[in-house]
Amino acid sequence: MARQVAVIGSGVMGHGIAQVYALAGFAVSLYDLQEEFLLRAKKSVEQSLSLLVQEKVITEQAKHDALERIVLTTDLQQAVAKAEVITEAVPEVIELKWELFRQLEEFARPDAIIASNTSTFSIARLVEVAKAPHRFIITHFFNPAQLVPLVEIVRHETTSEEVVEATRELMLMVGKSPVLLKKDVPGFIANRLQAALMREAFSLLSDGVADAEEIDTVMKNGIGFRWAFVGPIETADFGGLDTWKCVMDNLAPVLDHSKSAPALIAELVEKGKLGTKTGAGIYSYENTSVEEKLRERDENFIRLGKRKREC
Ligand SMILES: NC(=O)c1ccc[n+]([C@@H]2O[C@H](COP(=O)([O-])OP(=O)(O)OC[C@H]3O[C@@H](n4cnc5c(N)ncnc54)[C@H](O)[C@@H]3O)[C@@H](O)[C@H]2O)c1
Repeated sequence: MARQVAVIGSGVMGHGIAQVYALAGFAVSLYDLQEEFLLRAKKSVEQSLSLLVQEKVITEQAKHDALERIVLTTDLQQAVAKAEVITEAVPEVIELKWELFRQLEEFARPDAIIASNTSTFSIARLVEVAKAPHRFIITHFFNPAQLVPLVEIVRHETTSEEVVEATRELMLMVGKSPVLLKKDVPGFIANRLQAALMREAFSLLSDGVADAEEIDTVMKNGIGFRWAFVGPIETADFGGLDTWKCVMDNLAPVLDHSKSAPALIAELVEKGKLGTKTGAGIYSYENTSVEEKLRERDENFIRLGKRKREC
């Protein structure tokens, strides 16, 4: 019988995480508050699997089997009753996550691992209300979860070694590239690196050094081109540490040091312009549909993923 997992919350992240497990052969219970959210999620999984078939990463049969393995439910108790691992991907609101954990501790198997996909809360904060914190862990997937290989794993000081090891093995089993953090720091590793870079990108934009498209081009054709295969620490070694000492000594004092979100982001959020999810953000998406943009992104990610797996 297929091993059983549950995914709670079927939004941007939850549906992708469900797809990852289903494609790896797990029976998945996907839970959300309303059936229409679940149907939308299943449609997104189907579209994503079709893209993987189109790009010859999986067969039509594998797509069919993966879809069959995902069971949709609005009954939380039923969703988690048999699950060995429960991954929550509900909104980033601590009270919401605490209330969910209270219910999970009541309904789940006593040996089930409870994993959070939080992007900002420390594991210490998440388990503040937990009765059995030893089985809690963070598995931080990246959007789109079904395509980006990285999963950051963060443990609590009380998380058992068995839970940490089982989670790491599970991530490898479903084809992910896990990194276990040695410390529980806000934003983990990836979002700290990403936030540092975004702060500077938005500062250059607001200073009028370049427009959004030019800044994105610099990233895509320069730094980003390298970063899929060479990390920042390797980059320092490859470039020469003497050179990088000068670069950092000269640039660190002039880099942006803001302590809050860039003003432009705050302004657009205020206007309800949230990016692709509302059809407009920094870019207007007037000439290409959001669906086309996201499809193009995913096709490129699939091809990059193939190339990385060959290395
Ligand atoms: N979006 C990203 O790029 C991203 C990346 C990594 C991590 N995360 C994290 O993943 C989590 C989910 O983010 P998202 O972007 O998928 O959010 P989302 O808003 O797209 O989806 C959340 C889903 O949870 C459901 N939900 C709300 N309350 C619930 C409850 N009490 N029980 C069950 N389901 C409930 C909603 O109906 C919705 O379908 C957050 O913790 C977020 O910080 C997001």
